[in-house]
Parts: sequence; C-alpha cells; structure tokens
Amino acid sequence: MNKQEIISLLKSDGAELFKAADEVRKKYVGDEVHLRGLIEFSNICKRDCLYCGIRSSNKNVERYRLSKEEILDFAQKAIDYGYKTLVMQSGEDGYFTAEILADIIKKIKPSTGIAITLSIGERSPDEYKMLKDAGADRFLLRIETTDEELYKQMHPHMSLEKRKQCLYDIKSAGYEVGTGCLVGLPGQTIESLANDILFFKELGADMIGIGPFIPHKDTPLADAPGGSFELALKVMAVTRLILPDINIPATTAMETLNPNGRLIALQSGANVVMPNVTEGDYRRKYELYPGKICINDTPAKCRGCISGKIHSIGRTVSEGKGFRRKANV
Ligand code: SAM
Ligand code: FES
Repeated sequence: MNKQEIISLLKSDGAELFKAADEVRKKYVGDEVHLRGLIEFSNICKRDCLYCGIRSSNKNVERYRLSKEEILDFAQKAIDYGYKTLVMQSGEDGYFTAEILADIIKKIKPSTGIAITLSIGERSPDEYKMLKDAGADRFLLRIETTDEELYKQMHPHMSLEKRKQCLYDIKSAGYEVGTGCLVGLPGQTIESLANDILFFKELGADMIGIGPFIPHKDTPLADAPGGSFELALKVMAVTRLILPDINIPATTAMETLNPNGRLIALQSGANVVMPNVTEGDYRRKYELYPGKICINDTPAKCRGCISGKIHSIGRTVSEGKGFRRKANV
C-alpha cells in the first residue's frame, strides 16, 4: 500500500476499513486475545514531553517509585492471576539503572518463565543489551510521531533521529520491538500519520500501540483539542492491513474516549489488551492523561472484567505468551 492509498483510507468513513482489518486479524493472528499485565513502577521522569501528565515540569504530580520488593510482589500476583506476560513501564527514571532492572528481571524470570516487556524509554545500546541478556523479551518505545518538526516541538531536548536509533538498537539487541504513535497531536496531519504507518513497516515492528492524544490540564497542551477515537481506530486498522501478523493492543487511551473502546478496537484489528496490575494509589498517580480507566479497581477486578468482555464478543483469552508468529506475507 502506498502513501496515497493510506491517506484515502484514513480519510474514509472507516466502516469498510474496520471490517477488513477485523478479517485480516482473524486470518493471521486468530481469535485469541493476549493479555499483558502492566506494572507502572515509577512515575518519575527526566523528560518533559509537552503532552505527558508525568513530565518533569509538572509539579502537581505526587511522584512515586516502587521498591524492588513491591515490583516482585506485583509480578508474582500477576502470575497468580494467570498473566503470561508482564509489561514493566515507567517514566525515564535514572534511579532504575540497567543493573538494578537486570537484577529485578533475573529475580522474576527464571522461576516463573513469564515473558517480560520493558517500556522505560531511551537507553544506550549496552543497556538494552544488558537487559536483554538478563531475560527481557520485548521492548516498547513509541516513536510518537515521525514528523520531524512536530517531534521537536513536542519533545524538548530530544530528537527524532535518536528515537529511531534507539528502536534500531532495541532490534539489534534481539528484542521483539514495539512502537507506535499518538493520534491528534496539535498540528499533526493525515499525511504525517500515513508516514508513521510506513515507518512501522520500515522498522519491521512486532507490536504497534496506537493511542489518541488526550490533553492533560497540567501540561502546556491543556487547551489543545486532543485526538479522536475514530481517527486513532483508523490508524490502528490500517496498521493491521499493512502488518497483518503483528501484535496490536486495544489501548487504554481508546477506552478513555469511548466506554467500549477496547472492544471496538478488538473488532477493528487489535488482538492484545494490557490490564493494569499495579495496586492501590499508584494507579491514580501514574496519570499520563485524565480519565484513565480503572484507577479505583483492583487487579483481580480488571482481570475478570476484561476476560468477560473478551468472551462477550466471541473471542478467547490466550494461554500462551503471545510472541509474534511471523507469517509469509
Ligand atoms: N517513558 C517511557 C517511554 O517514553 O516510552 C514509557 C512511559 S510513557 C509515559 C508511555 C506512553 O504514554 C508514551 O509513549 C505516550 O505515547 C503515552 N502518553 C503520554 N501522554 C499521553 C497523553 N496525554 N495522551 C495519550 N497518551 C499519552
Ligand atoms: Fe515522560 Fe514523556 S514526560 S515519557
């Protein structure tokens, strides 16, 4: 598919696109939905992304950092709930050196065999390698936008080139690589979203997470209009058509904008959900955007809730770790 074709699909009303993406999803990755248990282990971040609620300039955030024991406890509980993959996400928190994280991974991995995904931001090639050697399997780092000008505006003191390099470093270290973009950033065009999708293909991504941008009141983008659920869904559906055998989550931000957002996404190309397994007040404090779902719920409730929803649309919860099974496409 070329850029013009992607643009016209993104400009279409979506109905046929969503149906086609659902069929491609069924053909290539089947009816199983993979659940990944998400631990948000630190909301301390040295970066200052203009859209992000936990950006370093936001002084209204109650910052926290889980102890090693708490992380291990949440990981064990996630395993007990039946999760086969753990996603460890944080702000870019310098306290968690590769050594400290490697130590935690080594404590979780050998005894449980659970797949581990990291989402901790930009690191050096050596650090990516060390964490891979410790037992991490996958890495998520959204490109956010491939529009160079927009990237610069949104990410003070960061560069698109460096971000891309990190993704290639992650790939070289042997991880399954996940990336994705925000939809609806101020000034973002349909053409730039088409370029994002082409970049996912160029990178050879194994996972793509697409989320609508949701304005947070304590950021410089408080008054921006924000992204639409429908457009985010279209970007996700086109991504499924172009990369038919990859893993695509129905993102939490989609459900924030639409009460059935994750189910609709699962019926428009997605095959993964990432329920939160962080407990207590930490959920509320990890506020990337307002209206985040499930902040008062327990991991047990989320697990039951999402399984019920998945069954209600005739899909099943996977018993496997959900690695990408590459198809000949
Ligand atoms: N620090 C890591 C990184 O940079 O990859 C992981 C944490 S980061 C907070 C996770 C994701 O949250 C980002 O990739 C971004 O797309 C998303 N995010 C941040 N602010 C958001 C907002 N206002 N609306 C929607 N998504 C947002
Ligand atoms: Fe932390 Fe953007 S402000 S990742």
